[in-house]
Amino acid sequence: MIEELPITDWTGPFDAALKQRAVTALESGAVLSFPALPFLVREDERAFLDARVSDGKSKNISLDPATGKLQATSLTGDKAQRLGAMIERFGAGAAGLMSALLPYRNVERARTSFRPVQVKGRSYSKISDDRLLHVDAFPTRPMHGRRILRFFANVAPAGSPDGGLRRWQVGEPFEDFARAFLPRLRPHLPGQSWLYGKLGVTRGQRSRYDEMMLSLHDAGKLDDAFQKNSPQQAVSFAPGTCWMVFTDQVLHAALGGEFALEQTFHFDIDQMADPARAPLKVLERLSGRELV
Ligand code: SIN
Ligand code: FE
Repeated sequence: MIEELPITDWTGPFDAALKQRAVTALESGAVLSFPALPFLVREDERAFLDARVSDGKSKNISLDPATGKLQATSLTGDKAQRLGAMIERFGAGAAGLMSALLPYRNVERARTSFRPVQVKGRSYSKISDDRLLHVDAFPTRPMHGRRILRFFANVAPAGSPDGGLRRWQVGEPFEDFARAFLPRLRPHLPGQSWLYGKLGVTRGQRSRYDEMMLSLHDAGKLDDAFQKNSPQQAVSFAPGTCWMVFTDQVLHAALGGEFALEQTFHFDIDQMADPARAPLKVLERLSGRELV
Protein backbone atom coordinates (compact mmCIF):
# COMPACT_ATOMS: atom_id res chain seq x y z
CA MET A 1 0.00 0.00 0.00
CA ILE A 2 2.97 2.30 0.65
CA GLU A 3 5.99 2.13 -1.59
CA GLU A 4 8.96 4.03 -0.22
CA LEU A 5 11.47 5.49 -2.64
CA PRO A 6 14.77 6.50 -1.06
CA ILE A 7 15.55 9.36 -3.46
CA THR A 8 17.11 12.51 -2.06
CA ASP A 9 16.99 14.88 -5.00
CA TRP A 10 14.30 16.42 -7.17
CA THR A 11 15.93 16.24 -10.58
CA GLY A 12 17.46 12.79 -11.06
CA PRO A 13 18.47 11.21 -13.34
CA PHE A 14 17.00 8.11 -11.71
CA ASP A 15 17.90 4.56 -12.66
CA ALA A 16 15.56 2.44 -14.76
CA ALA A 17 14.74 -0.06 -12.00
CA LEU A 18 13.69 2.71 -9.64
CA LYS A 19 11.52 4.35 -12.31
CA GLN A 20 9.88 1.02 -13.04
CA ARG A 21 9.14 0.48 -9.37
CA ALA A 22 7.59 3.94 -9.12
CA VAL A 23 5.20 3.59 -12.04
CA THR A 24 4.14 0.04 -11.15
CA ALA A 25 3.42 0.97 -7.55
CA LEU A 26 1.48 4.10 -8.46
CA GLU A 27 -0.67 2.48 -11.11
CA SER A 28 -1.49 -0.46 -8.89
CA GLY A 29 -2.91 1.93 -6.30
CA ALA A 30 -0.05 2.37 -3.85
CA VAL A 31 0.99 5.63 -2.26
CA LEU A 32 4.52 6.43 -3.35
CA SER A 33 6.35 8.00 -0.43
CA PHE A 34 9.63 9.89 -0.40
CA PRO A 35 10.85 9.78 3.21
CA ALA A 36 14.21 11.38 2.35
CA LEU A 37 12.95 14.18 0.12
CA PRO A 38 12.10 17.32 2.11
CA PHE A 39 10.72 20.47 0.55
CA LEU A 40 12.72 23.22 2.22
CA VAL A 41 10.87 26.23 3.54
CA ARG A 42 13.41 29.04 3.72
CA GLU A 43 14.11 31.03 6.86
CA ASP A 44 12.34 34.10 5.43
CA GLU A 45 9.30 31.95 4.56
CA ARG A 46 8.78 30.43 8.03
CA ALA A 47 6.22 33.12 8.88
CA PHE A 48 3.92 31.60 6.24
CA LEU A 49 3.52 28.50 8.43
CA ASP A 50 0.57 30.15 10.14
CA ALA A 51 -3.15 29.43 9.69
CA ARG A 52 -3.77 33.19 9.43
CA VAL A 53 -2.24 33.36 5.95
CA SER A 54 -5.51 31.71 4.83
CA ASP A 55 -8.52 33.93 4.16
CA GLY A 56 -10.46 31.77 6.64
CA LYS A 57 -13.03 30.70 4.05
CA SER A 58 -11.26 28.14 1.87
CA LYS A 59 -9.45 25.00 2.95
CA ASN A 60 -6.54 25.79 0.64
CA ILE A 61 -4.61 28.66 -0.81
CA SER A 62 -4.16 27.95 -4.49
CA LEU A 63 -1.84 29.13 -7.20
CA ASP A 64 -2.72 28.92 -10.88
CA PRO A 65 0.66 28.19 -12.46
CA ALA A 66 -0.48 29.51 -15.84
CA THR A 67 -1.39 32.99 -14.59
CA GLY A 68 0.51 33.18 -11.29
CA LYS A 69 -2.74 34.14 -9.61
CA LEU A 70 -2.95 33.34 -5.89
CA GLN A 71 -6.34 32.66 -4.35
CA ALA A 72 -7.75 32.57 -0.82
CA THR A 73 -4.90 34.18 1.09
CA SER A 74 -5.30 37.01 3.58
CA LEU A 75 -1.85 38.30 2.62
CA THR A 76 -1.38 41.22 0.25
CA GLY A 77 1.41 43.03 -1.56
CA ASP A 78 4.96 41.86 -1.05
CA LYS A 79 3.98 39.13 1.43
CA ALA A 80 1.46 37.62 -0.97
CA GLN A 81 4.08 37.71 -3.69
CA ARG A 82 6.64 35.89 -1.55
CA LEU A 83 4.07 33.27 -0.50
CA GLY A 84 3.23 32.79 -4.18
CA ALA A 85 6.93 32.36 -4.95
CA MET A 86 7.27 29.64 -2.32
CA ILE A 87 4.25 27.77 -3.68
CA GLU A 88 5.59 28.14 -7.22
CA ARG A 89 9.02 26.82 -6.19
CA PHE A 90 7.29 23.74 -4.79
CA GLY A 91 5.09 23.27 -7.88
CA ALA A 92 8.00 23.61 -10.29
CA GLY A 93 10.02 21.14 -8.19
CA ALA A 94 7.15 18.67 -8.21
CA ALA A 95 6.79 19.00 -12.00
CA GLY A 96 10.52 18.41 -12.47
CA LEU A 97 10.49 15.33 -10.26
CA MET A 98 7.42 14.00 -12.01
CA SER A 99 9.02 14.24 -15.45
CA ALA A 100 12.35 12.79 -14.27
CA LEU A 101 10.79 9.86 -12.42
CA LEU A 102 7.68 8.89 -14.39
CA PRO A 103 7.07 8.07 -18.06
CA TYR A 104 4.02 10.35 -18.44
CA ARG A 105 4.14 13.03 -21.13
CA ASN A 106 1.76 15.84 -22.12
CA VAL A 107 1.14 16.30 -18.44
CA GLU A 108 -0.93 19.29 -17.42
CA ARG A 109 0.35 21.01 -14.32
CA ALA A 110 -2.91 22.08 -12.71
CA ARG A 111 -3.24 24.13 -9.53
CA THR A 112 -0.69 24.15 -6.75
CA SER A 113 -2.07 24.43 -3.23
CA PHE A 114 -0.84 25.36 0.23
CA ARG A 115 -2.86 23.90 3.11
CA PRO A 116 -2.11 25.94 6.21
CA VAL A 117 -5.18 25.06 8.27
CA GLN A 118 -5.29 22.17 10.76
CA VAL A 119 -7.47 19.43 9.25
CA LYS A 120 -8.80 18.26 12.60
CA GLY A 121 -11.60 20.16 14.27
CA ARG A 122 -12.94 22.11 11.31
CA SER A 123 -16.57 21.71 10.37
CA TYR A 124 -17.65 20.75 6.88
CA SER A 125 -20.67 19.31 5.14
CA LYS A 126 -20.18 15.57 4.59
CA ILE A 127 -19.73 16.03 0.85
CA SER A 128 -16.88 18.49 1.29
CA ASP A 129 -15.35 16.70 4.29
CA ASP A 130 -12.06 15.19 3.14
CA ARG A 131 -11.71 13.50 6.54
CA LEU A 132 -14.08 10.91 5.06
CA LEU A 133 -12.78 8.24 2.66
CA HIS A 134 -13.23 9.29 -0.98
CA VAL A 135 -11.77 9.28 -4.45
CA ASP A 136 -11.28 12.74 -5.94
CA ALA A 137 -13.78 14.05 -8.47
CA PHE A 138 -14.29 17.72 -9.29
CA PRO A 139 -17.87 19.02 -9.58
CA THR A 140 -16.93 21.86 -11.91
CA ARG A 141 -14.13 20.28 -13.90
CA PRO A 142 -15.05 17.27 -16.05
CA MET A 143 -12.08 14.95 -16.61
CA HIS A 144 -13.44 12.62 -19.31
CA GLY A 145 -11.31 9.80 -17.93
CA ARG A 146 -8.10 11.81 -17.56
CA ARG A 147 -6.09 10.98 -14.45
CA ILE A 148 -5.63 12.98 -11.25
CA LEU A 149 -2.16 12.48 -9.79
CA ARG A 150 -1.22 14.51 -6.71
CA PHE A 151 2.13 15.22 -5.12
CA PHE A 152 2.25 16.36 -1.48
CA ALA A 153 4.88 17.71 0.90
CA ASN A 154 4.49 17.95 4.66
CA VAL A 155 6.17 21.21 5.71
CA ALA A 156 5.03 21.33 9.34
CA PRO A 157 7.73 22.95 11.50
CA ALA A 158 9.55 21.24 14.36
CA GLY A 159 7.52 21.22 17.56
CA SER A 160 4.11 21.01 15.85
CA PRO A 161 1.34 19.22 17.74
CA ASP A 162 1.16 15.44 17.14
CA GLY A 163 4.72 15.53 15.82
CA GLY A 164 3.47 17.46 12.80
CA LEU A 165 2.25 14.20 11.25
CA ARG A 166 -0.23 14.37 8.38
CA ARG A 167 -2.54 11.48 9.16
CA TRP A 168 -4.42 9.68 6.41
CA GLN A 169 -6.60 6.63 6.12
CA VAL A 170 -6.18 4.67 2.87
CA GLY A 171 -9.04 2.41 1.81
CA GLU A 172 -9.74 -0.72 -0.20
CA PRO A 173 -8.81 -1.14 -3.90
CA PHE A 174 -10.82 1.02 -6.33
CA GLU A 175 -12.39 -1.96 -8.03
CA ASP A 176 -13.82 -3.37 -4.77
CA PHE A 177 -15.22 0.05 -3.87
CA ALA A 178 -16.71 0.60 -7.35
CA ARG A 179 -18.26 -2.86 -7.50
CA ALA A 180 -20.01 -2.34 -4.16
CA PHE A 181 -21.36 1.11 -5.00
CA LEU A 182 -22.18 0.94 -8.73
CA PRO A 183 -25.62 -0.65 -8.27
CA ARG A 184 -26.59 2.17 -5.89
CA LEU A 185 -25.47 5.21 -7.87
CA ARG A 186 -27.87 7.95 -8.87
CA PRO A 187 -29.20 7.50 -12.38
CA HIS A 188 -27.72 9.28 -15.38
CA LEU A 189 -30.01 12.17 -16.33
CA PRO A 190 -29.76 12.85 -20.04
CA GLY A 191 -29.77 16.61 -20.52
CA GLN A 192 -28.32 17.49 -17.12
CA SER A 193 -24.68 17.43 -18.19
CA TRP A 194 -25.57 19.35 -21.36
CA LEU A 195 -27.40 22.00 -19.33
CA TYR A 196 -24.57 22.34 -16.78
CA GLY A 197 -22.12 22.78 -19.65
CA LYS A 198 -24.33 25.41 -21.30
CA LEU A 199 -24.88 27.32 -18.07
CA GLY A 200 -21.18 27.27 -17.24
CA VAL A 201 -21.75 25.30 -14.02
CA THR A 202 -19.10 22.95 -15.39
CA ARG A 203 -16.10 23.72 -17.60
CA GLY A 204 -17.43 21.88 -20.62
CA GLN A 205 -19.81 18.98 -20.45
CA ARG A 206 -19.60 16.14 -17.93
CA SER A 207 -19.24 12.67 -19.42
CA ARG A 208 -20.92 9.62 -17.90
CA TYR A 209 -17.52 8.88 -16.39
CA ASP A 210 -17.58 12.24 -14.56
CA GLU A 211 -21.13 11.66 -13.31
CA MET A 212 -20.15 8.23 -12.06
CA MET A 213 -17.03 9.46 -10.29
CA LEU A 214 -18.97 12.26 -8.58
CA SER A 215 -21.64 9.79 -7.52
CA LEU A 216 -19.01 7.45 -6.12
CA HIS A 217 -17.36 10.33 -4.26
CA ASP A 218 -20.66 11.41 -2.71
CA ALA A 219 -22.16 7.96 -2.05
CA GLY A 220 -19.01 6.79 -0.27
CA LYS A 221 -18.87 9.86 1.98
CA LEU A 222 -22.57 9.58 2.84
CA ASP A 223 -22.37 5.90 3.82
CA ASP A 224 -21.49 5.74 7.52
CA ALA A 225 -21.17 1.94 7.55
CA PHE A 226 -18.72 2.07 4.64
CA GLN A 227 -16.70 4.77 6.38
CA LYS A 228 -16.53 2.73 9.57
CA ASN A 229 -16.29 -0.86 8.38
CA SER A 230 -14.60 -0.96 4.97
CA PRO A 231 -11.00 -2.21 4.92
CA GLN A 232 -8.63 0.67 5.60
CA GLN A 233 -5.24 1.44 6.95
CA ALA A 234 -3.81 4.38 8.85
CA VAL A 235 -0.84 6.01 7.17
CA SER A 236 1.07 9.00 8.50
CA PHE A 237 3.43 11.30 6.68
CA ALA A 238 6.16 12.97 8.71
CA PRO A 239 7.30 16.57 8.37
CA GLY A 240 10.13 16.80 5.84
CA THR A 241 8.72 14.06 3.61
CA CYS A 242 6.75 13.96 0.34
CA TRP A 243 4.30 11.50 -1.19
CA MET A 244 2.45 10.98 -4.47
CA VAL A 245 -0.79 9.16 -5.27
CA PHE A 246 -3.51 8.78 -7.90
CA THR A 247 -6.31 10.36 -5.85
CA ASP A 248 -8.96 9.44 -8.45
CA GLN A 249 -8.16 5.78 -7.75
CA VAL A 250 -6.96 5.46 -4.17
CA LEU A 251 -9.57 5.90 -1.42
CA HIS A 252 -8.11 8.39 1.00
CA ALA A 253 -9.12 10.55 3.97
CA ALA A 254 -7.02 13.22 5.66
CA LEU A 255 -7.65 13.06 9.40
CA GLY A 256 -5.12 15.48 10.80
CA GLY A 257 -2.17 17.68 10.07
CA GLU A 258 -1.26 21.23 9.18
CA PHE A 259 1.02 22.82 6.59
CA ALA A 260 1.11 20.73 3.46
CA LEU A 261 1.85 21.73 -0.11
CA GLU A 262 0.23 19.92 -3.03
CA GLN A 263 0.62 19.86 -6.79
CA THR A 264 -2.05 18.32 -9.05
CA PHE A 265 -1.26 16.78 -12.45
CA HIS A 266 -3.66 15.65 -15.16
CA PHE A 267 -2.95 13.47 -18.18
CA ASP A 268 -4.59 11.05 -20.59
CA ILE A 269 -4.79 7.38 -19.76
CA ASP A 270 -2.89 6.46 -22.94
CA GLN A 271 0.21 7.77 -21.10
CA MET A 272 -0.11 5.03 -18.49
CA ALA A 273 2.06 1.92 -18.54
CA ASP A 274 -1.17 -0.03 -18.03
CA PRO A 275 -4.28 2.00 -19.01
CA ALA A 276 -6.51 -0.94 -17.96
CA ARG A 277 -5.89 0.15 -14.37
CA ALA A 278 -7.43 3.60 -14.93
CA PRO A 279 -10.73 4.20 -13.08
CA LEU A 280 -12.32 4.84 -16.51
CA LYS A 281 -11.40 1.37 -17.73
CA VAL A 282 -12.40 -0.30 -14.47
CA LEU A 283 -15.80 1.43 -14.51
CA GLU A 284 -16.35 0.60 -18.18
CA ARG A 285 -15.58 -3.03 -17.48
CA LEU A 286 -17.87 -3.20 -14.45
CA SER A 287 -20.76 -1.31 -16.08
CA GLY A 288 -20.39 -2.92 -19.49
CA ARG A 289 -20.59 0.38 -21.37
CA GLU A 290 -18.50 3.20 -22.77
CA LEU A 291 -18.38 6.13 -20.39
CA VAL A 292 -16.72 8.90 -22.41
C1 SIN B 1 -7.53 15.16 0.12
O1 SIN B 1 -6.97 15.14 -0.99
O2 SIN B 1 -8.61 14.63 0.26
C2 SIN B 1 -6.87 15.86 1.29
C3 SIN B 1 -5.45 15.48 1.39
C4 SIN B 1 -4.67 16.33 2.36
O3 SIN B 1 -4.87 17.56 2.41
O4 SIN B 1 -3.81 15.78 3.07
FE1 FE C 1 -9.10 14.00 -1.84
